[in-house]
Amino acid sequence: MRPRRLRRTPALRELVAETSVRPRQLVLPVFVREGATQPVPISSMPGVVQHTRDSLRSAAVEAAELGLGGIMLFGVPEAKDATGSGAVDPAGILNVAIADVAAEVGDALPVMADLCLDEFTDHGHCGLLDPHGRVDNDATLEVYAEMARAQAAAGADVVGPSGMMDGQVAVIRAALDGAGASDVAILAYSAKYASAFYGPFREAVDSSLVGDRRTYQQDGANAVEGVREALLDVAQGADMVMVKPALAYLDVVRRVRDAVDVPVAAYNISGEYAMLEAAAAHGWIDREAAILETLTSIRRAGADVVLTYWAAEAARLLRA
Ligand code: PBG
Repeated sequence: MRPRRLRRTPALRELVAETSVRPRQLVLPVFVREGATQPVPISSMPGVVQHTRDSLRSAAVEAAELGLGGIMLFGVPEAKDATGSGAVDPAGILNVAIADVAAEVGDALPVMADLCLDEFTDHGHCGLLDPHGRVDNDATLEVYAEMARAQAAAGADVVGPSGMMDGQVAVIRAALDGAGASDVAILAYSAKYASAFYGPFREAVDSSLVGDRRTYQQDGANAVEGVREALLDVAQGADMVMVKPALAYLDVVRRVRDAVDVPVAAYNISGEYAMLEAAAAHGWIDREAAILETLTSIRRAGADVVLTYWAAEAARLLRA
């Protein structure tokens, strides 16, 4: 056997490539900032901005033209409070942005929304706090149900619960169905780990979090538990499940892919983006090659869908 025979030319290599990365498999996460009059750069994520409502519309049109698989919206409200009331307000920034984007792209681009309270709470946690300052699981579920109804009413195709509350998928499914939104799909952030690589995201959403999320997000030591979380979410009605972060958890992506019978997504998160961009800015790695290698590795691990801040750029690279 001489394996090099099939590596001799680009065409031969493509013929036998086991893994593909296509624009339709990529979802672009975007931030929209309430009251912004121009896009605000995020210093720890060079090339990524907090959009205005208008610049978000343009980004969504571009994403549709590039044939991306979807756009995932995160809102940055002007005011935060203890219960994250901006998240359920139909006039809240995330809900109006969902409506803006849905009106702009129609069915050409699936519109997805982060369903979590951390961008909207003044304490920065993903849920409501009890009198002892602990995140109250079941009280939070009621707010998630209301948030799901608001996002569906605004026109979301897919909601993405990312708060890691137990039982959140079942509650959201029931809320959607009860509101006549049984067509709205759930992309569950099922195996979401408490990660240091979320650092730049906290700047991206002006997070006020003090401390960490270790009482609700998973411990990075656990892979079996990641599979258990995914199976629980499928049983509760998740249409797709997600592993997050991607790169430090590629083994979990593979295990979840092998364990469930729904599409699996992986989130190539802010810190993964920032590391590569920083090294490339120093001239230490070939930026474009490293981006495509990163996305290929996540697909090879088993992700059907990849959320990545490089989605639009990668689509352009793949077409070139
Ligand atoms: C929570 C949420 C986070 C991210 C997506 N949804 C932050 C967190 O859990 O701390 C991180 C995304 C990224 O780092 O790119 N709403």
